[in-house]
Amino acid sequence: MSLDFDPERLREIIYKAADIVVGLYKGINDRKVFQAGAPEEIKKLFSESLPEKGRDFEEVLSEIGEKVIDTATMNISPRFHAYYTGGGNQAAIPAELISVALNQNALKWHCSPSCTEMERQVVRWIAEFIGYSQEAGGYILSGGSVANFVCLAVARKIKSSINVADDGLYASPVMTIYVSEEGHSSIDKAVDMLGLGRKNLRKIPVKDDLTININALKDQIIKDSEAGLLPICAIGIAGTTNTGAVDPLEELAKVCSQHNLWFHVDAAYGGPAAATESAGNLFRGMEKADSIVIDPHKWMYIPFEAGCVLVKNEKHLRDTFSLLPDYLRADIDKSGRYNYMEYTFELTRNFHALKIWTTFKLYGAGRIRETIEEDIQNIRYLADLIDESDDFERLSQVPLSVVCFRYRTGDETKHEDDVFLDELNQKLIARIEEDGRFFVTGTKIKSRTALRVVCINHRTTKKDLDILINVIREMGNDVKNELT
Ligand SMILES: Cc1ncc(COP(=O)(O)O)c(C=O)c1O
Repeated sequence: MSLDFDPERLREIIYKAADIVVGLYKGINDRKVFQAGAPEEIKKLFSESLPEKGRDFEEVLSEIGEKVIDTATMNISPRFHAYYTGGGNQAAIPAELISVALNQNALKWHCSPSCTEMERQVVRWIAEFIGYSQEAGGYILSGGSVANFVCLAVARKIKSSINVADDGLYASPVMTIYVSEEGHSSIDKAVDMLGLGRKNLRKIPVKDDLTININALKDQIIKDSEAGLLPICAIGIAGTTNTGAVDPLEELAKVCSQHNLWFHVDAAYGGPAAATESAGNLFRGMEKADSIVIDPHKWMYIPFEAGCVLVKNEKHLRDTFSLLPDYLRADIDKSGRYNYMEYTFELTRNFHALKIWTTFKLYGAGRIRETIEEDIQNIRYLADLIDESDDFERLSQVPLSVVCFRYRTGDETKHEDDVFLDELNQKLIARIEEDGRFFVTGTKIKSRTALRVVCINHRTTKKDLDILINVIREMGNDVKNELT
């Protein structure tokens, strides 16, 4: 029994879904950013038994509207500033529809010829956009965490002194990896999963600007080598998760070259800013990296998921991941066929490339670059508003498009009371979420509770940020009154 619709009905239901999408964007400013009720309420929406019989598409669509759209967090809102969440561009919407309809599997060339070459093209475009080698190999995967894992797996393979793939780590000296204290948690997880041991991930102290202290790094590498350990990799962060600090990549490249280390750059968030005039100079030296992680689903406005691995010497990816069982050999010797499965851990892979390719084609690199530039200007504008006010205090520098700050009340006697301000700002973060006009999260900067506002959202304007600061002020004042 076919599961398909007849062509007219297919057209009808796609149009109905399209109407919902259009309605969603038309009404985006009328929705709260955080729409969900209590967890039990959401859970209740999805606690029915397995449906034995199917229903009409219209009924299902209306359920999607009520149960999903009306409770979803509006990451697409101009007032969403949490984590590193891009707004998702609209060019990608039809691209995703077509990609799903085609159901390509990017594991091997003969299963997805144009998809394979498009992905390679997209990888070259991303590399070019950020000034990296056009010869680099790489691919699109779920996100920065997995991409960091892949790059560190390559580093381990290439820099270890034994055959890790066959022998495991047993015969190796302890391998060490270096990253600043501001490194993303996915690096700790990767080191764990690669069997290297988290304590062999050396967290190097940072300077006042929260970038890696190069002298401390050099000292640690020498100390480890003298102790008989095997330093294999140093990681530069091109846009830290907390504050967007960019490590001195040129200096890191030099250290890696002196000590024969793999030079990996985690540019998951910040990478695209390498293409801008305002921040491009911070990324000098990134082109020397052996591998780079960049997330198109962050600051290139691609909808989730889209992370990207770039490895300067493509052969290193193949050396790490190629394994050819009989059942996958069918056409393997045909010349010119590029089989992604030889370069990846994953076998079945989504046609992620189409939405990125369509985005580049529709807007051109120029408009993407200008939009990133606008985000940088927007966050600098917000930082100025904070600096000019008496009741806010900025807690971090603003190298890219994130600012950390706290509400410190209009009452000067409270300005130095860190314990009070920590409590106030912690409560304020929850209050902002509950209120729903904006979505902001928090972090700790030098042990102090901070609000963290990110702008990698092409829908945000300076006017939104004017309102944001007033909303936070209003709620901050309410929380202060409740606490005093
Ligand atoms: C610097 C950095 N690296 C890696 C990641 C992980 O990226 P993803 O959430 O796509 O797995 C993040 C996430 O914010 C990040 O900020």
